[in-house]
Amino acid sequence: RDAVRSGGDRTAITAVAHRGASAYAPENTLAAIEEADARGARTVEVDVQRTKDGHLVLMHDTTLTRTTNVTSVYPGRASYRVADFTLAEIRRLDAGSWFDRAYRRERVPTLQEGLDTLRRHRLNLMLELKSPELYPGIEAQVADTFRRNPRWLVPAAQGREPRLIIQSFNWESARISHDLLPDVPHGLLGVVPRDQIPAYADWADQINPSHTRIDAGYVDAVHAEGLQVFVYTVNEPAAMRTAIANGVDGIISDYPDVLLKVIAEE
Ligand code: G3P
Ligand code: CA
Repeated sequence: RDAVRSGGDRTAITAVAHRGASAYAPENTLAAIEEADARGARTVEVDVQRTKDGHLVLMHDTTLTRTTNVTSVYPGRASYRVADFTLAEIRRLDAGSWFDRAYRRERVPTLQEGLDTLRRHRLNLMLELKSPELYPGIEAQVADTFRRNPRWLVPAAQGREPRLIIQSFNWESARISHDLLPDVPHGLLGVVPRDQIPAYADWADQINPSHTRIDAGYVDAVHAEGLQVFVYTVNEPAAMRTAIANGVDGIISDYPDVLLKVIAEE
């Protein structure tokens, strides 16, 4: 809570690379994480889900069809949901060609591989529990993963960006995760109605809505309860400037390099 910015301190805005630097490399791959570093971001957002055999993997959609060649490799399957494939099956998929043939060797990473790559590049992580209602107990599994990688749980030094933020559109899942990892900042994706913000402020650290759904008054209302606001997915410089003017604490963008330039200019 100490990290909540005072009005006008624009240098403290956190630039988050959305699904990695996903404008430049296939989302939620190790290449997209590395690209985020190359483009100057210090914090990377990715999405976590679970395979049929219980492995945590980085993937946005709940099906594999948009961002892999799953229908070619496994034609005629009744389901292409992440939850209906084993990790070994998913490992066979090309997770990059849909974006550009140059990325044809990209695979769907496990969360552990994502963490290893992030650490190697000294990047912070904003992890979204994606559709956790499909994966009962995923919060505990994610918490166990971080306990096995305890460097992620060391609090950031004063004035530094958190190493790890966990967020979800499923606020109950975020609460469960918070109870398991109480020292890790947790964010609620979406717009929390103003009258409900005080109740969530008992445990949540951030409210993270679409930039199209909020204004300066909403940001002020969240700040008044001691929480931060990170907005997604802000790809146009004009919208980045508006978000900054509205007083947000973080901006999530597919173009972290453009965002950093705009932040530096404001
Ligand atoms: O981090 C916020 C953003 O990722 C939420 O939307 O659909 O890209 O996961 P989505
Ligand atoms: Ca996400």
